[in-house]
Amino acid sequence: MLQNLRPHQSSRPSTPLTGTITVPGDKSISHRALMFGALAIGQTRISGLLEGEDVLRTAAAMSALGASISRDGADWLVSGRGIGGLIEPADVLDMGNSGTAARLLAGILATHPFYAVMTGDASLRKRPMGRVITPLAATGARFSARAGGRLPLSIEGTGDALPLAYKLPVASAQVKSAILLAGLNARGITEVEEPEPTRDHSENMLRHFGAEVSVTAQRSGKIIHLTGQPELRAADVLVPGDPSSAAFPIVAALLVPGSRITVENIGLNPLRTGLFTTLREMGAALMVQNFRLQGGEPVGDIVAEYTELKPCGTPPERAPSMIDEFPILAIACAAARGVSRLRGLHELRVKESDRLAATAAMILAGGVRAEIEGDDLIIHGTGNPPGGGLVATHMDHRLAMSALVFGQMTGAPMKIDDASFIDTSFPGFAALMRSLGAAIIAA
Ligand code: S3P
Repeated sequence: MLQNLRPHQSSRPSTPLTGTITVPGDKSISHRALMFGALAIGQTRISGLLEGEDVLRTAAAMSALGASISRDGADWLVSGRGIGGLIEPADVLDMGNSGTAARLLAGILATHPFYAVMTGDASLRKRPMGRVITPLAATGARFSARAGGRLPLSIEGTGDALPLAYKLPVASAQVKSAILLAGLNARGITEVEEPEPTRDHSENMLRHFGAEVSVTAQRSGKIIHLTGQPELRAADVLVPGDPSSAAFPIVAALLVPGSRITVENIGLNPLRTGLFTTLREMGAALMVQNFRLQGGEPVGDIVAEYTELKPCGTPPERAPSMIDEFPILAIACAAARGVSRLRGLHELRVKESDRLAATAAMILAGGVRAEIEGDDLIIHGTGNPPGGGLVATHMDHRLAMSALVFGQMTGAPMKIDDASFIDTSFPGFAALMRSLGAAIIAA
């Protein structure tokens, strides 16, 4: 928990990691469950919601828009207002560090006829919102943002929205979802074409709440069609563990000699599992057990055992299915012996930080050569990184956790400048890692 952590942390070479754990709920599914619940009629019960800062921002925003949201034991209850039924918020909506919350909410607000303003922390205020403003403006909504389409952003939504037909210029589930959410309160069919498949949690959950969604396959991507103004009916949601969070203990176990851990109940949607595919190509001993379908999403337990990893080469078309996992994959590559090339990483430049530059700097801080060539990251793994560096985390939770995993296997400890952002996606990270045997201390 945040209160147990000092802002600075360091991790040092650890003894074998062993044990069975679960990780917090999936961040993407948690945001969507709160948003769809708020747009449905009736009461939605959410089990396993991620109680991280990002998702709590979404919960606060949906209550400010009139949904009633409460905790019931470990579950969360959302009483929705129906499509088009949200009300004007009395104050600015602060989305904290969360790009997903801000972009998806922009879609909802575009087709509600009132005025709203969104802002965020210093990291989110640097991130481009033009990618949602441009398509959403075609509904008839009006947007004003800072230069470069940056937050704060004001939105005057429309109550008489035109449905959109839009081809995504970048592979982004956030942009796709913003358009689908806007389409919920537009007359007629909304269409989004994605040239490369991205995570489809919005499509799955829309169907789960009773909307009509169909998908036509294209050469490499697909077109998603949504029928506007459905009556969304409250539906219970069981949130699986986040594969993007499970990635940290799993990679740690692969890198620390003698380790064997099990991470139970991980979401295994194939549009999220590019990291596991890549780790297997690197020779990793990863086994899936208890594979099952849970609430429309595939789920399983992963067993990870220490392996001497080989370097890898990832193709650009795999990037969307592992878009949040490149910092931790880079650590695995630094530990492997040989040259790895991670291709097509342009979208990393607009994440919580410039993750391409920051990941390369993290690897260098551990004493391993890394360079950026165009949109590719090249890592010259040595098998035994010296470590000893301080990593600048740039308000980016995934860099902080990756650096702490790095320190489990470097010769000398690794330090990070700020651990506080870990709570955006993985509250309890350090304690959970320590329960497996990892050595993470306040520095
Ligand atoms: C997310 C989509 C991804 C991902 C983010 C969560 C989502 O962003 O990086 O952490 O929940 O839709 P993009 O869709 O912009 O790549």
